Formats: sequence, structure tokens, C-alpha cells
Amino acid sequence: MERVLLLGGSGVLGTEVLRMLQNEKIDYVAPKSSDLDIRNRDKVSDFIHYFKPTWIINCAAWTDVDNAETSCQEACELNEVAVENIAIAAVALACRVIHISTDYVFNGESEKPYQEDSLAKPINKYGESKLRGEKALIAMLRESFVVRTSWLYGIDGKNFVKTIAGRALRNEPARVVDDQFGSPTSAKDLAAGIISIIRIQPPPGIYNFSNEGSCSWYELARKVYEKLGSDPELVEAIDSESLSRPAKRPKFSLLNKDKWKAAHLSKVPEWSSSLESMLPEIVAELKEVGEV
Ligand SMILES: NC(=O)c1ccc[n+]([C@@H]2O[C@H](COP(=O)([O-])OP(=O)(O)OC[C@H]3O[C@@H](n4cnc5c(N)ncnc54)[C@H](OP(=O)(O)O)[C@@H]3O)[C@@H](O)[C@H]2O)c1
Repeated sequence: MERVLLLGGSGVLGTEVLRMLQNEKIDYVAPKSSDLDIRNRDKVSDFIHYFKPTWIINCAAWTDVDNAETSCQEACELNEVAVENIAIAAVALACRVIHISTDYVFNGESEKPYQEDSLAKPINKYGESKLRGEKALIAMLRESFVVRTSWLYGIDGKNFVKTIAGRALRNEPARVVDDQFGSPTSAKDLAAGIISIIRIQPPPGIYNFSNEGSCSWYELARKVYEKLGSDPELVEAIDSESLSRPAKRPKFSLLNKDKWKAAHLSKVPEWSSSLESMLPEIVAELKEVGEV
């Protein structure tokens, strides 16, 4: 009988994982960050020893890419030290860990989709902290699964698709970069993927998961405007330089999913079909909170 400890259950991805655990009737506990701060090693150990999970899903992270440049200590505490805390407790209980990581571990110089064993060379502090977290987990716990994903969006929490959907529905213009390419990933599809790891139990290690296909942020924004019946011409293409954000972003961050598919894990839907199916729920959420 599986027992899951879900960390980060209030985030973009975590809320979808939570729904999926409920739908699948998997026994779980999902403490809020106010009840379990994963930076506290003793509390993590006590919690895990008390609940005795067979799996830990870690969706908690420092995800503010720009602020990680100046708050790298805080980013590191969540993306590296907290992951070590989880690994130490998991080793003691022989429990398996699914940890979420990012395409930002790569520098974006490749011309073909990154494989799990491609050279990771982050170009910003967030990517560095996430890579150190991955390495710490894998070094400490044999039964660890690192799932790298990209351009995550969902119904809950702050994310690009939701922000752009709000602008589209209010018929506001948007300036969006057209020189970074990746694969938008539905939090629902990734949550289904995480559950498939628990069900199928493939060999431990790093796995890539994103939706199929690719686009630029500009193309993604236009697609959101189009699907919501707003004028895509309201979206202006700009280059990354003109934004002058604190953190550099990889120009190309497509992930190769051959290993995922060979392990017969969950389906990998096309990004545009997943976007289309999630947009009505994003719109409903924006209406609910009075943003549109
Ligand atoms: N967003 C993306 O585009 C993207 C792309 C690639 C990979 N990823 C990775 O995907 C994973 C999920 O990202 P996300 O966008 O769903 O994250 P998110 O929405 O920013 O959620 C982060 C979660 O971490 C929790 N958390 C923060 N500090 C904590 C602490 N000290 N102790 C315990 N929990 C804490 C938050 O809880 P509170 O709400 O209580 O603060 C929240 O539930 C992360 O590993 C991220 O690196 C994200």
C-alpha cells in the first residue's frame, strides 16, 4: 500500500498532483509550508519518521528565477539544502523520492533537445541551485527520481499562461520575447506523469517530461490570445536583451522524452492540445478571483 508525502502541494504543480492523488485514491499527506518548513532538517526528519511514506513527491522550490540572482542563499536553502534534508530522512526509511527539476539546468546552446545525460551547465543562480539539489539527492538516495520539466503552467499559482490569459481577456497588449524556445508543459500532464512513476516504478534516475512540440514565449502568448478570442496582434514580439531581466534564460530548452516513452510512463500530449483543454479552467479561476 503506497503512502505519499507531497511537499509543495499549494504551488502550480503541487495543486494538480494533490488533485490526482485524491482522484486515484492514493493515501497521502500534504503539509502546508507553514506546518512543515522543509529547510528545517529536524522537522523534516520527525515528520517523515512519523508519517512513514513509501514515496515523497517534492514540488516545493524557490521558483523566482530573477530574485534568485540576489537572494541566492535563500534559493539554495530551498532548492539544495531542503532537498538534502528530504534525502537524509528518505534514506533512513528506505522511501523513494520524486523530485522536480528544470530545463534551466542547461545553458540553451544546444541545437537538439537535451537528453537526461546531456551536460548540465546553468546560466543563472536558480538553475545552479536546482542542479545542486538534483546532484545531492542522487548522491544520497539510490531510489530517487528527478523529473526535469519546462515552462510549467496551471490553474493555481502564478504562471505565464495565466498572466497572459488575463491580459487577453482584458484586451490588453503584451510584449513577449520571441528568442527563447521551449515546450510549454501542463501541470495536469506532469502530475499524471508523476503518478505514473509511482504506478510503473521504472528504474530510478533522471527523466525528462514536457509536453510535445515547441514554440517561443511570443508564439505561446499569441496562441493564448487566439484561443480566448482576443486579437493576437495585441502581442508584440521583443528580444530578451530589451527586457534586461536580472537572470539570463536559456535560448533553447527542449527536452528529449525518449527515456520517458521507453519506460512506458504517462502519455506526452502536444502542448497546444493541452493548453486548449486547460484554458477554460484557467479562465474560470481568473473570474473567480476577480481578475477578469
Ligand atoms: N514554474 C515553471 O515554469 C517551472 C519550470 C520548470 C521546472 N519547474 C519546477 O517545478 C517544480 C514546481 O514548480 P511550481 O511552479 O509548481 O512552484 P510554485 O508554484 O512556486 O510552488 C512552490 C511551492 O513550494 C512551497 N514552499 C516554498 N517554500 C517552502 C518551504 N520553506 N517549505 C515547504 N514548502 C515550501 C510553496 O508553498 P507556499 O505556497 O506555502 O509558499 C509552494 O507550494 C519546482 O521544482 C520548479 O523548480 C518549474
